[in-house]
Amino acid sequence: MSDQLERLNRLPLRDNLRGLTPYGAPQIDVPIQLNVNENTHGVPADVQAAITQAVAEAAVGLNRYPDREFTELREALAEYLGHGLTADNIWAANGSNEVLQQILQAFGGPGRTALGFPPTYSMYPLLASGTDTEYLRGVRAGDYGLSAESAAAQVRELQPNIVFLCSPNNPTGTGLGLDVVEAVYEAGEDSQTVVIVDEAYHEFAHDGTPSALTLLPGRERLIVSRTMSKAFALAGARLGYMAAAPEVTDAIRLVRLPYHLSAITQATALAALRHREALMADVEDIKVQRDRIVDGLTRLGLKPAASDSNYVFFGGLENPHEIWRGLLDAGVLIRDVGIPGHLRVTAGTEAETTAFLEALESLLSRQAALPA
Ligand SMILES: Cc1ncc(COP(=O)(O)O)c(C=O)c1O
Repeated sequence: MSDQLERLNRLPLRDNLRGLTPYGAPQIDVPIQLNVNENTHGVPADVQAAITQAVAEAAVGLNRYPDREFTELREALAEYLGHGLTADNIWAANGSNEVLQQILQAFGGPGRTALGFPPTYSMYPLLASGTDTEYLRGVRAGDYGLSAESAAAQVRELQPNIVFLCSPNNPTGTGLGLDVVEAVYEAGEDSQTVVIVDEAYHEFAHDGTPSALTLLPGRERLIVSRTMSKAFALAGARLGYMAAAPEVTDAIRLVRLPYHLSAITQATALAALRHREALMADVEDIKVQRDRIVDGLTRLGLKPAASDSNYVFFGGLENPHEIWRGLLDAGVLIRDVGIPGHLRVTAGTEAETTAFLEALESLLSRQAALPA
């Protein structure tokens, strides 16, 4: 046991936190960083200028607490999402991680359970243990798919208080049909299960992919969470949000810290929402690079999963960790998600994507040339 872990274990820590490791994707300073599904295209110049001006204006009033209800931002987010949503349907926090945490604080907790379907977003179990909610691991098919029948049967059997449906799923990149969301919601009727559809990457989905937002009317236990970290290139600003019935947002108000969204955060998010044209153009280019990666990996004989997100999960590797290491040595950081035979890569700029594909090709051909 490391010294650090030993010292940690001497503390009167809550039992369900003992032995856990914190979320920790490597933050390594290499030229090409394609490991945490950030928007690689940067913040467009006009959006940077709008944010700078908005933050300068907000700085004048920083002696006061910010608008606790962030009304203007909720209105702008409702307008962005459409589907007849209003500010009453919207809630936001510092990243969708915080939104998810607040949902667990309100609807999970001691004696309650949350169901996820691994492999899925690695924060779900950590958010569950942080709120003393028992995390239940559901099962997927061998190809990591999740059918409506299977998901609904698992919900009926386990009767969780909360279900996480990640669509597109991280790390696999594949979206869920709305039939899965509908079936899970219905299956949770008896147990009054709160269904969270995590659509952090929805803007990168292929054209015509419907959002679970269309299912919100009449479903008061359904929550759709989104983020400005990905499509809006604002991972550093920390703004996640959700849409749900107004009573759900009222439930979250019971657990949120007062003034949790700083005036700087609100101003930044509002400026980006008002100047989103260039950001959405970058989303289109990222989709092109994502599809290039899928094609390139297929040409290299690997097995990329269908992706509706800004990253690609791929299999067919004999020694993924060696490939991960070799790419890092070539200045390209991607993600080893710990699934045998697989790695995950974020779509880069055109140049970054080319560098990744070329470095991978050269590593694979060097390996093939080695004596068996
Ligand atoms: C599926 C999924 N949900 C939520 C998040 C959290 O994003 P943020 O807290 O930056 O909004 C991420 C981040 O990578 C993610 O992959």
